[in-house]
Amino acid sequence: MNDSLEKINTVVANGNSREAILQAADILRSGGLVAFPTETVYGLGADACSKKAAEKIYSAKGRPSDNPLIVHIADVKAVYELAACVPPKAEMLMEAFWPGPLTIILPKKELVPNETTGGLDTVALRMPSHPAALEMIRESGLYIAAPSANTSGRPSPTEAAHVLDDLKGKVDMILDGGAVGIGIESTIVDLTGECPTILRPGFITKQMLEHIIGEVKMDAALEINDSSIRPKAPGMKYTHYAPKGELTIVEASSADDSGMNVANKINELVREKQQSGCGVAVIATSEHAHLYKCQNVLVVGDGTKGETIAAKLYSTLRKCDELSVDYIFSEAFSTGALGSAIMNRLLKAAGQRVIKI
Ligand code: TXA
Ligand code: MG
Repeated sequence: MNDSLEKINTVVANGNSREAILQAADILRSGGLVAFPTETVYGLGADACSKKAAEKIYSAKGRPSDNPLIVHIADVKAVYELAACVPPKAEMLMEAFWPGPLTIILPKKELVPNETTGGLDTVALRMPSHPAALEMIRESGLYIAAPSANTSGRPSPTEAAHVLDDLKGKVDMILDGGAVGIGIESTIVDLTGECPTILRPGFITKQMLEHIIGEVKMDAALEINDSSIRPKAPGMKYTHYAPKGELTIVEASSADDSGMNVANKINELVREKQQSGCGVAVIATSEHAHLYKCQNVLVVGDGTKGETIAAKLYSTLRKCDELSVDYIFSEAFSTGALGSAIMNRLLKAAGQRVIKI
């Protein structure tokens, strides 16, 4: 039997404890898997330079092996050891946003195995700002490959309990650092082409990047809803973040400040589904929650504060699974600086199902 498929005893340890972090570093050095908190979402870490460790990650997550992993580092020196070329714009971004929720793509050096990069000749690098993550990476003396610590296709974990739900018996240790701060994954910028390109929107916005390095493009696959355009980040082509119930977004095509138009449409859809005996949930902002006539109205955050929505988006989608509902209807949350990152995730979770009214 492949040893990566054996049932492992998963230890949950306090992410604030130095002893636990040292133990996590030991596990990583001996080729094991450790889930750990970052400022964005929980990561599933292993030695980035070991083919076998990378294979263990793919197998624990049930992730397709052509989907490359982000390599997490704790100092800038590591970039020069892992990347074959570090252009000035990469250095400017590292200086401005690291440690923090930004991943940069650069040409890789031989040291990074193809198993880690899904066969690509580029590598994704990120220095997280979460103190437990930084300390664990530093103490391990390794570079740490880490995708989000969820089963492939499910919402990313923003609490240790989510990791346990998905990966119990498949990872050696979970460092519990409580609920994460940001709640959606890092912004990914590809610096290998003519013009820096955002492959995945996140907390670091296009405007913030352009302020530092000038013109930045969005990957065409992000802007046009056309499945024939292949996204440059292989992971962006998969259905993702999806709850088990069927999620549909209901969006107003013109101003709907009171939220009444969307609420009326959602209430109609809820009534229809309930009449046919289905379980239903609604995802709404705190301002609009009172407009809905449904047993399960889940408040995702404050519509004027995108960061509150980002922080609770994935736990809200997981809550829908706990409620075992068949259908979920959500408002759109496209306003504010985080709007494009939030909608990118919500649309994927909905399999691009949108009703415009
Ligand atoms: O915030 C984050 O980035 C979290 C935490 C744990 O750091 N990590 C994360 O990893 O979101 P993951 O594996 O769930 O998503 C990584 C994304 C995938 O869409 C993958 O295809 C893309 O990054 N990616 C990785 N390496 C790449 C490369 N060399 N070129 C293009 N895309 C790459
Ligand atoms: Mg992921």
